[in-house]
Amino acid sequence: MSSALRAEVGQIDVDAIVVGAGGAGLWAALELAREGIPTAVLTKLYPTRSHTGAAQGGVCAALGNVEEDHWEWHMFDTIKGGDYLADQDAAEVLAREAIPAVIELERMGLPFNRTPDGKIDQRRFGGHTRNYGEGPVRRSCYAADRTGHMILQTLYQQCIKAGVKFYDEYHVVDLVFDGGEADKGGRCSGVVGYKIADGTLHVFRAKAVLLATGGYGRAWRVTSNAHSLTGDGMALAWRHGVPLQDMEFYQFHPTGIVGTGILLSEAARGEGGYLINDAGQRFMESYAPKLMELAPRDMISRAIYQEIRAGRGIGGKDYIHLDVRHLGRKVIEEKLPDITELARIYQGVEPISEPVPVQPTAHYAMGGVPTNLETEVLADARGNVVPGLFAAGEVACVSVHGANRLGTNSLVDLLVFGKRAGIRMAQICKSTPQPGSVQGAERAVRDELLALSTRPSGVRPAEIRRELAALMMDNVGVYRDEALLGAAVKGIAKLKGEYANVRVEDTGSVFNTDLLEARELGYLLDTAEATAVSAYARTESRGAHSREDFPERNDAKFLAHTLVWQGSDGAPATKLDYKLVTITKFEPKARVY
Ligand code: FUM
Repeated sequence: MSSALRAEVGQIDVDAIVVGAGGAGLWAALELAREGIPTAVLTKLYPTRSHTGAAQGGVCAALGNVEEDHWEWHMFDTIKGGDYLADQDAAEVLAREAIPAVIELERMGLPFNRTPDGKIDQRRFGGHTRNYGEGPVRRSCYAADRTGHMILQTLYQQCIKAGVKFYDEYHVVDLVFDGGEADKGGRCSGVVGYKIADGTLHVFRAKAVLLATGGYGRAWRVTSNAHSLTGDGMALAWRHGVPLQDMEFYQFHPTGIVGTGILLSEAARGEGGYLINDAGQRFMESYAPKLMELAPRDMISRAIYQEIRAGRGIGGKDYIHLDVRHLGRKVIEEKLPDITELARIYQGVEPISEPVPVQPTAHYAMGGVPTNLETEVLADARGNVVPGLFAAGEVACVSVHGANRLGTNSLVDLLVFGKRAGIRMAQICKSTPQPGSVQGAERAVRDELLALSTRPSGVRPAEIRRELAALMMDNVGVYRDEALLGAAVKGIAKLKGEYANVRVEDTGSVFNTDLLEARELGYLLDTAEATAVSAYARTESRGAHSREDFPERNDAKFLAHTLVWQGSDGAPATKLDYKLVTITKFEPKARVY
């Protein structure tokens, strides 16, 4: 055996496994602990470094603390924002349960900003409106521009208090199935974890496994996502016969730092910031005259591209300006401290006195592992569940965001459905016997990891990764068409061919990040493939999926969720199916802001 892997350690038995320690994973773990369910949380990071911590501007809940608001308005905005692709029963759960979730967080001690009379303060965010679209409403509860960070710290403290068992820096490299893969009726019965500190493989057995691993923004060159966002949970499920849903819908956040893509929160616009083109115009008046800079993200990202194409980017270049100077030093320093610092550090710009150059940045996956409202993973379009497997947060597609997520609804999603996951998993754990032994379940992944680290020659992962990121940026970005997407599908297939010969240089067993990054590259290739194939097949424009060759939304054909399965034996994905959208209260209409 190569020194990149050390002897595997025998089976570890728990009732529940949570993979990932962002907001969804932590809240699920907390609910499981409250029910006394023996649980293991495995995370490839230290928990408080999870990407939830990068969420800045707030978490929406119709508390009505500063002006009238209702959960039905939040539900409507979520559905309209998602271009009517969201399942309306799920959007209702999101909007209703956001309210008690935020109040519970407050009681756990989360330091929200306050109104003068001591209530949780609320600010505006894109696409959130009063009275079904009349104008912006203050719905986002926030802790300066570090709301995600505060959520993560608060939930982690609660988990520690409740005695949750964490396996930090255990990289989950495989799922274990009993009785066949997910598409053959198999049950998920555990996971294989790679302990980064010493290169040992550990097999965990459980009655219920939750994927809470986040998204895959690292497939694009310019992204707000941390280095660790590589689609692990989506790809692992896909490899075991689970379809991926609505992968063509990938959100570009309008205001990333030029070049790096680091997020500058929409809260800057929520507080009154402007978007300005080279002519000094607030150009959103031509695209969304009512909501202006608080229109949904898909629309603003397209508007920025239109301005750039028309030569109105700053200095004719590929960015525009975010201008907060008129807000004044006090508001900027008190309500937007982190993004101000980011602009200073990464751009050398002083937002108090200078406009900040920004461009759209790959930000959030609306698609993912399909689930029902209880976060049980779905095996097909008929709603059959994969026993033992759950998903919540960005890795999942429940689907509340439809074709375009509204700002702050990611945090709402992971709170509401993370909590639901824990509750449902606890019920399952109480009523289900432990699956059969999973001893030896690490063999397949052990061989794959060994192959990566023992090949005498081969391509370096970084080269493939660079090419993939450029291909996704150029061909599967804000605007798409048949030629771009066709080239992306072919390009990804070529890169997957090269990946079969990829080789890592580090053969050590201690913190072999070279090996794990090569493994993550495989996940990125899988999620990129699912995205490009689904986008190619959807010949309409809806939300974040904007086809220049099919500019209209086509409800007659595409008011449906895409499901895509991995091809067998490494063949390209060609199996697609569609599932009707659940409509309960709001009939699809033209989406005008
Ligand atoms: O702009 C932001 O603060 C991002 C929030 C979100 O993605 O929900």
